[in-house]
Amino acid sequence: MEFEQRTHTCGELRPDNAGQAVVLNGWVHARRDYGGIIFLDLRDRYGITQAVIDTSDTPELAQEIKEIRSEWVLWVQGRVRLRENPNPQIPTGLIEVLATRIGVMNRSDVPPFEIVDDLKTNEETRLTYRFLDLRRTQLQRNFLLRNHLYQIAHRYFFEQGFVEVETPVLTKSTPEGARDFLVPSRMNKGQFYALPQSPQLFKQLLMVSGFDRYMQIVKVFRDEDLRADRQQEFTQIDVEMSFVRREDVLAVAEGFVRTAWKDLRGIELPERFLQMTFADAMNRYGSDKPDLRFELELQDVTDRAGSSAFSVFSEAVSHGGVVKVLRAPGCATYSRKQMDELTEHAKKYGAKGLPYLKVVDGQVSGSFVKALQPEDLSDLLALTGAVDGDVLLFAAGRWERACLILGALRTEIARREGILEAVRGMFSVHWVTEFPLLEYDEEESRYVARHHPFTAPMQEDLEKLTTDPGEARAIAYDLVINGYEAAGGSVRIHRQDVQERMFDLIGMSRDEAEAKFGFLLSALQYGAPPHGGIAFGFDRLVMLLAGTENIRDVIAFPKTTSGLSLMDGAPSSVDARQLRELGISITSSAPHE
Ligand code: AMO
Repeated sequence: MEFEQRTHTCGELRPDNAGQAVVLNGWVHARRDYGGIIFLDLRDRYGITQAVIDTSDTPELAQEIKEIRSEWVLWVQGRVRLRENPNPQIPTGLIEVLATRIGVMNRSDVPPFEIVDDLKTNEETRLTYRFLDLRRTQLQRNFLLRNHLYQIAHRYFFEQGFVEVETPVLTKSTPEGARDFLVPSRMNKGQFYALPQSPQLFKQLLMVSGFDRYMQIVKVFRDEDLRADRQQEFTQIDVEMSFVRREDVLAVAEGFVRTAWKDLRGIELPERFLQMTFADAMNRYGSDKPDLRFELELQDVTDRAGSSAFSVFSEAVSHGGVVKVLRAPGCATYSRKQMDELTEHAKKYGAKGLPYLKVVDGQVSGSFVKALQPEDLSDLLALTGAVDGDVLLFAAGRWERACLILGALRTEIARREGILEAVRGMFSVHWVTEFPLLEYDEEESRYVARHHPFTAPMQEDLEKLTTDPGEARAIAYDLVINGYEAAGGSVRIHRQDVQERMFDLIGMSRDEAEAKFGFLLSALQYGAPPHGGIAFGFDRLVMLLAGTENIRDVIAFPKTTSGLSLMDGAPSSVDARQLRELGISITSSAPHE
C-alpha cells in the first residue's frame, strides 16, 4: 500500500512552521463536521494536531473523508497555518494543517471505548482491548516514564561500577515465601524448573565469583494473591555488593532514588534518608511501611489500661499483651454506621471488636464507657491528650497485632478525612531497619525467615539465636515511599557455619538444606566475601513517580487479580500431545474448563 510518509509527528508543529508543506501520519482522534469545514484531530504518541479540510476549496477531499471515523489510520498532506481559534491547552494548539491530500492507511472498527484520558469504561474491557487502552495519553505517559527509569537505573549503576549480569529464568524450585511457578522439563520427565522469585542466590554466587558490584533489571515471578500494588510477574532492580556494610548499600540506593526523583519529577530528596527501626515504625505508626506524609501517631497506654476495670484491657495485659490507642481528631462526629464500618475494617486485620471513646462537648461516650471507673476514664483521656471532637480507637492484645490493627485504621482515617488526598503529590521516603530475623509460623509450628534465610543477624543479637531466636534482629532494611515498600534488602550471611545455623533455626534438616541449597553452602566454603544488597520493586517506583495507585497502570500487559490475561486468554489448557511429551496428566482442572 502506498502512503505518504510523515515529515513531522503530530506533536511537533508550532507557529514557526506556518507556511510549510507537511505530511502527518496518525490515528483519527476526533472528527468534527461543520458543513463546509471538517476538522480531523490526528493523534500519535507525540501529540494531537488539528487538520482542517475546506470542502469548498477541495471538493474531491470532501468525498474521501465522508466515511472516515475515529481510530482510522491516515496520512494528511497540507500546509501549516495559524489557527483562528487557538487552543492553549495543547502544545500544537496554535496551528493547524490545511489539508490538500488525505489517504487512508487502515480502517478501524468502532472501538469499544473512546481513546480519552477520563475514561469511565470498566477495567475488564480495557484489559481485553489493552492495545487500544495503551493508545491513551495517560498510559503512554506512564510507559515513557518507565522507559526513562530504565535508562536512569542503567546509567546510575553503570557509572557506580556495577556490572549487569543475566541470571537464569529456568531455575531450581526452593520455595521460601511465595509459591513458585513451575515449568515441566520435557527432557527430564517428572522434573520441574521454577521461575525465579528473585535472583537472590545467583547474585550472592556472583559475589563469590568476585564481580564485586552486580545489578540487573529483571523479571521475577511469585505465585501469590494479587493486589493493587502486586503482580505475579514483576520487575526488580536487583543489586548486590561485596565488602560492604549496611550503610554502603543504603547510600548507593539513596543515590539512585535521589537521581530518579530529580530527573523524573524535579524533586530534590534529602542527601540521607530518615532511618526508623521496625519496632519504632510499628509502635508509632502500626506498620512496617508507614506513610509519613501525615502524623496520626499511635500511643501506648498498656500500663494504665492494664489496671483499668475494663476486662478486655486488663486480661490482654495480664497475658503479656499491650493496649494501644489512636487518637483521631475531629472524628467524634462519626455516625453509628461509620463506627461500624471502622470496626469491620479493624476486624479484617484481626481485631475482635473496636473499643472506642468519643469526646463531644466535654462528655465521653463510647462502646465501653460503662465498663470503666471514672478515674480510668479521666486518666486515659489525660494520657492520650484527647480533646473535644476526638475519637480514641483502642486495640488490645499481642503487640504486633494491636499495632497492625491501629495502623490499618490510621490509613483508613486518613483516607476518610481527606488527608491522603491533601498529601497527594508529596513524597515521604525513609528506611525501616532492624527487622526481626524470624517470625513464627503458627500453621507450620516453626520459625520462618522474615526477609529470607540468607539474611545476616545483627552482631549484637547473635546470642539470642540460642536463647530467644524470635527476638533476634536482622541486618535487613526496607525503603518505604508513601506507605509502599519500594525496595528491600539485607546484609547476607557469608559464613557457611552461620548459614547452616540459620537453616537449623527455620527447622530445615541438614539433608533438606543440602538438597535445596547445597550449591550455596558449597560456595560459602570457597572464599565468600562479606556482601549485601537490595532489590527495588521497579513497577512500584514507576507507580509512585507516575502518581498512580494501580500497578496495572505501569505494566503494559498486566494480569487481573485472578491472574488472568484477558487479552490473550492466558493461562489456558494445552493439548494432550504437549502433556504427553512432558509426561504430565491432569487430575483436576478449574471448574469453568
Ligand atoms: P523482596 O521480596 O522484598 O526482596 O522484593 C523486593 C521488592 O520487590 C517489590 N515486590 C513486588 N512488586 C510487585 N509485585 C509483587 N508481587 C512484589 N513483591 C515484591 C517490592 C519489594 O520491596 N531478593 C530480595 C532482595 C534482597 O534481599 O536483595 C527480594 O526479592 O517493592
